[in-house]
Amino acid sequence: MQRRTFLKASCSFCLLAATGSMFSALPALAAAKNKVFKTTLNENNQAEIPLSLFEESTLQFVRIKGTYYDIALHKEEDSTYTALLMKCTHMDNQLTITGEGFRCSQHGSEFDKTGAVTKGPAEIPLTTYPTTVNETSVLITILNNEE
Ligand code: FES
Repeated sequence: MQRRTFLKASCSFCLLAATGSMFSALPALAAAKNKVFKTTLNENNQAEIPLSLFEESTLQFVRIKGTYYDIALHKEEDSTYTALLMKCTHMDNQLTITGEGFRCSQHGSEFDKTGAVTKGPAEIPLTTYPTTVNETSVLITILNNEE
């Protein structure tokens, strides 16, 4: 096999291997990307998220206009909701979702779905926001709008 043919075959194999690993990670990423609900705060500093968004999934990402970090809104088994700011408490990097919770790509900190630290260097749990539910929506109250 000539060097050029070998390199071409090797590159094709590497591309296929990389594509395969990308596709294995794709469902989680695609699901996360499709589940960003964009909204604004109302006069009471609350984001209103339709309950209908939780008919097919227990997790919804919320992006509030004018803020940098998304909020992960999780429906618990008892139909209460947990709102977590997707901001790493180590050095403020945006978090990504994993199968078990959230991970920071900067230095590897991990958090469970309640926001508790499961792996450092972060030592402080994620910021949570109070939630209430009415007939049609989950309301997330943003106490500190600096995020
Ligand atoms: S910024 Fe997240 S672990 Fe350092």
